[in-house]
Amino acid sequence: MKVIIVKNYEELCQKGFEIMSELITKKPDCTLGLATGGTPVGLYKKMVEANKAGKLDFSKVSSYNLDEYVGIDYNHPESYHKFMRRNLFDHVNIDLAKTHVPDGGAKDSKKAIDEYNEMLSKATIDMQLLGIGSDGHIGFDEPGTPFDSVTHIVDLEESTIKDNARFFDNDLNKVPRKAMTMGLKNIMDAKSVLLLASGANKIDAIYNTVRGDISTDCPASILQNHPNCTIIVDEAAAAKLQ
Ligand code: PGA
Repeated sequence: MKVIIVKNYEELCQKGFEIMSELITKKPDCTLGLATGGTPVGLYKKMVEANKAGKLDFSKVSSYNLDEYVGIDYNHPESYHKFMRRNLFDHVNIDLAKTHVPDGGAKDSKKAIDEYNEMLSKATIDMQLLGIGSDGHIGFDEPGTPFDSVTHIVDLEESTIKDNARFFDNDLNKVPRKAMTMGLKNIMDAKSVLLLASGANKIDAIYNTVRGDISTDCPASILQNHPNCTIIVDEAAAAKLQ
């Protein structure tokens, strides 16, 4: 596990951008595992700018997203489908047919999960981008998720519901209670992992991920076993590491 500590959010996005764009430049037909949430927004902005400047080509890139809410419409502005369109896909030359987000709105969620796992089993993710929850979750794999899990439906933790209320008018009642997420095994199967963490509310999650025991109490701690994992942390989130 390689830990890079940067000054602030701007530097975090810049460093993350450099690592991801280097992969896309070296391997134009790479497969990315993509994440949502507040943290990757600045990184996606840099990708859009580079694409518009003709410096980064997405035409051959494929992607698989980590997760999606269950119980809100696909077209809800806070669905992760919409998030990806708004923050990245609609602004770069990616082929939408090569992008994949779990179908949280599916009538038959078991079938949707099986299909996603089937797709993932045939794909090789070159780089999986991750944020981290204040409870140490990655994707929506909350504490207690088995390390051998694949895509499944989860009940979100109260802490996650509170963390995400900011995207739903700060109204806890509007935050979906369930999500569909890649499992920890799917994440560990990626050839490389890039985790970004910013802000003081991630201090404990980052400490437990980097220095803690490998335990399902902190799902991200499994990344200590990944052969090619880079964690970029700003000074606020790294406070207990220093
Ligand atoms: P955030 O979420 O980027 O909005 O902090 C991260 C996560 O929950 O994985």
